[in-house]
Amino acid sequence: MSSIIPILFERVKNEMVPLDGSSHSFKHVERVTKIAQHLAELENADVELVQVTALLHDIGRLYGSPHPEKGIEPARKILESLNYPVDRIERILCRLLKYHSRDIILSIF
Ligand SMILES: [Fe+2]
Repeated sequence: MSSIIPILFERVKNEMVPLDGSSHSFKHVERVTKIAQHLAELENADVELVQVTALLHDIGRLYGSPHPEKGIEPARKILESLNYPVDRIERILCRLLKYHSRDIILSIF
């Protein structure tokens, strides 16, 4: 199976052009994705799942507030358009919400 990452990277990069110059531009997403990939490799996690989640974690900022919730359907549409497996889409969407959850952030510390 070929990786979705290169095509998803370009897709999200293009979609996030309106946020260029902001603190949550695609440059931020790119940095987060690199860090997430590194940590996933160290932890023997599902690297692709982590990368996809990181690439999509701020897509909701294009659609208003609260951005985690606003990003769920756009993320789903992007992944479905790329024929990404449904079970993995659901796992990613759950992580998109949890990533921004105050409880999850607190549990890290
Ligand atoms: Fe972010």
